[in-house]
Amino acid sequence: MITSVKQISLLKPDDWHLHVRDGKILKGVLSHTADVFCRAIIMPNLDPPITTLNQAKEYKKRIIQSIPDGVSFTPLMTAYLTDDMSPDLLEIGFKERVFHGAKLYPVNVTTNSAYGVTDLSKIDNIFETMERIGMPLLIHGEVSDSNIDVFDREAVFIERHLQPLLKKFSSLKVVLEHITTIDAIDFVENSESDIAATITPHHLHINRNAMFNGGLRSDFYCLPTAKREIHRIALRQAATSGKPCFFLGTDSAPHTRRFKENSCGCAGIFNAPFALESYLKVFEEEQALDRFEAFASINGANFYGLPLNDERITLVKRDVSVPEIIDVGLAGDPNDFVKPFHSGEILGWSLESV
Ligand code: NCD
Ligand code: ZN
Repeated sequence: MITSVKQISLLKPDDWHLHVRDGKILKGVLSHTADVFCRAIIMPNLDPPITTLNQAKEYKKRIIQSIPDGVSFTPLMTAYLTDDMSPDLLEIGFKERVFHGAKLYPVNVTTNSAYGVTDLSKIDNIFETMERIGMPLLIHGEVSDSNIDVFDREAVFIERHLQPLLKKFSSLKVVLEHITTIDAIDFVENSESDIAATITPHHLHINRNAMFNGGLRSDFYCLPTAKREIHRIALRQAATSGKPCFFLGTDSAPHTRRFKENSCGCAGIFNAPFALESYLKVFEEEQALDRFEAFASINGANFYGLPLNDERITLVKRDVSVPEIIDVGLAGDPNDFVKPFHSGEILGWSLESV
């Protein structure tokens, strides 16, 4: 008989895909991650985006200044690829450990991607350099072609762009970010290239129906969008498989109410406040709690070639209520608050000590 697990202790985890924004909101969103995670790969899609060494260093400073007192947290910065990014700048940035990777947003594919790459073949020199120096290429793997159905954009990207890219640059180190489909899982698992994928909590919990449940629900709108149930089930199997090519990346992407409750609601789900609890629910349901540490604290660091953290955290089986809405320090106006993922729900795990 399997006795139910009452607590779980693991190496302090890292978040390999995170948006913390900038300006006034930065402090209010960052604390939710910094309190629990040791490091995070910081997405560069600010407006204007992070494209220079100086911008990355300054942004890193602002993040460090926003870390709560007594908390140890390391932001790992990334560069935003544009059509005219200089390969030399990337090489210097990577060697000086200013950049831990470079993010490829196909132009107009998601929030603040207007400066993104218009045609992958225009930046072959970038890929050559990244392949040579072993710099991770982080990919938002969707086409932005409006003729392609929104739910097919990941699969089409893989076929049209990712496959040819890895044929040409067979040693390029790639993270396919926030995967949502069986097509992406199959591709990553069976590829001979050095490729891994991040998986978000929300794509493990919701399918595309969540966006249309009794009305149009922008709180469940993110990019890539959640897909059919068969994809969600496959993602749960991949995340809990223990395979080194899958690891934690929340893609926590806060937008205030005024931008979510809008006729053109922004894409992004703010899951940082209860990310670990959210993932743990899935691992418990899949009877894979023993594989959680690999997913949350080991596979990502190994892929990025970084040391494992040595601190540990413990989560205990105790209910926690997720608030309806979170004040991220912008103002007293509820329109400036952010709704967290699992808003108003009760989750069955909570943090004991950090
Ligand atoms: C992200 C954001 O808001 O910055 N949105 C999202 O839906 N995931 C951008 C991104 O990662 O696509
Ligand atoms: Zn993202």
